[in-house]
Amino acid sequence: MWTPSRRQLCLAFLIACALSAISFFLNFHESVFQYGLKLSALCSDRHLLTSPVAIVCLPGTPPVPNSSFSHAPHAQPLSGSWTIQPDGRFGNQMGQYATLLALAQLNSRRAFILPSMHATLAPVFRITLPVLAPEVDRVTHWQELQLHDWMSEEYSRLKDPFLKLSGFPCSWTFFHHLRERIRSEFTLHDHLRDEAQRVLSQLRLRPTGARPRTFVGVHVRRGDYLQVMPQRWRGVVGDRAYLQQAMDWFRARHKDPIFVVTSNGMRWCWENIDTSRGDVVFAGNGKESVPGKDFALLTQCNHTIMTIGTFGFWAAYLAGGDTVYLANFTLPDSEFLKIFKPEAAYLPEWVGINADLSSLKTWARPWFPGKIFGLI
Ligand SMILES: *[C@@H]1O[C@H](CO)[C@@H](O)[C@H](O)[C@H]1NC(C)=O
Ligand SMILES: *[C@@H]1O[C@H](CO)[C@@H](O)[C@H](O)[C@H]1NC(C)=O
Ligand SMILES: *[C@@H]1O[C@H](CO)[C@@H](O)[C@H](O)[C@H]1NC(C)=O
Repeated sequence: MWTPSRRQLCLAFLIACALSAISFFLNFHESVFQYGLKLSALCSDRHLLTSPVAIVCLPGTPPVPNSSFSHAPHAQPLSGSWTIQPDGRFGNQMGQYATLLALAQLNSRRAFILPSMHATLAPVFRITLPVLAPEVDRVTHWQELQLHDWMSEEYSRLKDPFLKLSGFPCSWTFFHHLRERIRSEFTLHDHLRDEAQRVLSQLRLRPTGARPRTFVGVHVRRGDYLQVMPQRWRGVVGDRAYLQQAMDWFRARHKDPIFVVTSNGMRWCWENIDTSRGDVVFAGNGKESVPGKDFALLTQCNHTIMTIGTFGFWAAYLAGGDTVYLANFTLPDSEFLKIFKPEAAYLPEWVGINADLSSLKTWARPWFPGKIFGLI
């Protein structure tokens, strides 16, 4: 009797995937091009025009795919399977997930995630991308592509049917046209949302005991970046003066905001954030191993103060209110600026406050071996 080998089984699986994808997508086509993807034109935003890199923007926020699928006249069948190499921590993997989703859709490919990405994100979010079995991953002849951290035209005409992306992409220029879809993928599980809401509902402003109406999530990235930023990138992390300025920005614009601080360096926060106004609470659990609770808390706030890193980016992007970020946090000749384009990282409406770089003058020109770090 003929028994299929593992390889044949995997092949059959892939073919079945491709066939079901084709039949599905003959009925469903959500074309970004329909909504005016202008690859030749850079964004109209002034920031982006001054950029030395060609950043392709997908203007506007086109309608999201919903249950009433449109029958577009030039629908293309969907074929091939793409995935992305999970790397880095929580915020990095959110960036990888969103970028995979957006690029696969743009190129009419099916997106699959690998099990370790599912293990990182699925405990927190109701993500929907299917998971690729490790056996299939192993036998697939992937083309590989390392992404840089901003959208560019070549990424919209990738022909490979089996492509494994890699890198640390976390730029709105990849996925902002799908913002609603991304927000829905990153919907919190009920228990995390409810727990965060419970924490927020118990907060009170001192000394009046009044219930706050405006919550500002504050993410203070510390940990390894205290060394990595100055030594590897000739940059800084958010300091005390920055946080003070950022909080004052909100105090000047919102009535009685409360600041909900989360950090992977809580002790520093206790010692450095001014609590004399009675509007600061240290609410994060600060454990990097369980990022979900802190993340949930930040996204349930109305506004965000971020320092650096993709964790703060995602909290701000999902919270969706006003966002203040630390701007120009490296010296102008930092290698970091070759892999990170601020104009592709921060939404144009977000407010940057310049970092104080004076502490860097004491660092000799560094040589720091090792790979390029992803931010979290
Ligand atoms: C789905 O999209 C159609 C337009 O394509 C719109 O008329 C409809 O209201 C949308 N439905 C939902 C539930 O958003
Ligand atoms: C601010 O956030 C709180 C907590 O999530 C929420 O209950 C409230 O409706 C939000 N306020 C606004 C104006 O969105
Ligand atoms: C960062 O520095 C650039 C170049 O000096 C400047 O144009 C920009 O306004 C600065 N950003 C902020 C938020 O001040």
